[in-house]
Amino acid sequence: MVEFRTAVNVAELQPGQLRRVEVDGTQICLANVDGAIYAVAARCSHAGGPLAEGALDRKIITCPWHGAMFDVTSGEVAGPPADDSVAAYDVEVEGGVVRVAVR
Ligand code: FES
Repeated sequence: MVEFRTAVNVAELQPGQLRRVEVDGTQICLANVDGAIYAVAARCSHAGGPLAEGALDRKIITCPWHGAMFDVTSGEVAGPPADDSVAAYDVEVEGGVVRVAVR
C-alpha cells in the first residue's frame, strides 16, 4: 500500500532547486521544475553520488561526482556514465506541503 508522507514545505523548494529529504527512512531528492515537484532516489545509481548536490537544468539532474544525468520526472538515465535508472516516487502537493509516496 502506498502512503504519502510529508517531506517539506513548498516554500522551501523554489523553482530550479534540488533538496534532499528523508521520508520514512528513505533518502529522496526533491526537484522543483518550473513549479512542478518531482522526487527521485537521492543516491546516484552509478557510484552513490548525492544527486541533491548536483545541478538541475529543467527536468535533468546532473550528478556532481561523474556527471551522469537523470530525468527527474521518471528517474531514467539521460546521460552516461550511469547505466541504471534511479527510483522515482509519486508526489502530491496540498496545503503548501509536499508529500511523497514511499512503499
Ligand atoms: S556517482 Fe553519479 S555519476 Fe558517478
